[in-house]
Amino acid sequence: MRGAQIKGWGSALPEKVVTNKDLESTLDTNDEWIVERTGIRERRIGGSTSGLAIEASRLAMARAGWEPETVDLLILATTSPDQQIPASASTVQNELGLTCGAFDLNAACSGFVYALVAAHGFVQTGLSRILVIGSDTLSRLTDWEDRGTAILFADGAGAAAVEAVDGPGELLGYDLGSDGSARHILDADIGGYMHMDGKEVFRRAVRVMVASGNAALERAGLTIDDIDHVVPHQANIRIIESACKKLGVPVEKAVTVLDRTGNTSAASIPLALVDGVDSGRIQPGDTILFVGFGAGMTWASAVVRW
Ligand code: ACO
Repeated sequence: MRGAQIKGWGSALPEKVVTNKDLESTLDTNDEWIVERTGIRERRIGGSTSGLAIEASRLAMARAGWEPETVDLLILATTSPDQQIPASASTVQNELGLTCGAFDLNAACSGFVYALVAAHGFVQTGLSRILVIGSDTLSRLTDWEDRGTAILFADGAGAAAVEAVDGPGELLGYDLGSDGSARHILDADIGGYMHMDGKEVFRRAVRVMVASGNAALERAGLTIDDIDHVVPHQANIRIIESACKKLGVPVEKAVTVLDRTGNTSAASIPLALVDGVDSGRIQPGDTILFVGFGAGMTWASAVVRW
């Protein structure tokens, strides 16, 4: 039997910190409101989608001990590529000195889990080393005069070096979904800013996270009690609390970084994963439930044995 496992991981954040207090000087908002309604205290702004992806990938590849020529495929999950054409994966591939295939995948904030599941599928077709990245610079698509979105979105990247192994591998079950009829509740025209119906996103987010998380658990043959850590999309602490409650898991099991990062879209789940692993909270053998949602609307869950 052939499976796959994350052998290396890395993350990258821009240097510039923007606190809620900083936003008070340009927006009709305040720190107390933002913390209470979202859980976000500060976020990182700057850099490019490919630049952050490259930084995170170098760390992941070094930790896995991968030489560039041994990588079989690169998947970059992003909804904010550097350019319309070509894919930002081309830049990342070139800068890392890779010679393999490379493509962007756009499933908004669910993108990293979509890419991770795709990587496990490619391993079944015979590939051995797949670099999976989630990178977004949503600050470029944010109207900094719109307090409904400017308080939420930020920049970052996370990467995972996924390698074929003998045996069943780490992916125990997954669920991917999309409801295109709701695509209008969060969108941005080419060259334009994001528009969002925050309340509607909130309502649907909780619903799909619960349904999708449960579907992935069922396919893994597990229950929520078997889960050691939930690594959710980092959009809003109230969404995470509500989803955990409805999934029947203590919120203490949720790994969160959004107080420091804001919503970094496709980077949010790998940023939380890397934080959980590097802090020693996630240990080998632990069972993790990834659960994400995003524009589209898309959703994605995966149960992984670390
Ligand atoms: N600062 C201060 N007051 C504000 C702000 C702000 N930034 N924004 C709104 N308010 C006010 C409103 O005007 C309103 O005032 P009123 O009662 O006098 O009318 C009050 O606060 C409540 O506003 P709501 O919009 O009802 O606030 P809510 O509790 O819904 O929080 C939020 C808004 C934070 C946007 C929330 O709806 C949310 O997080 N939604 C989900 C967003 C999300 O996850 N998006 C990412 C999707 S993933 C992807 O694909 C990128």
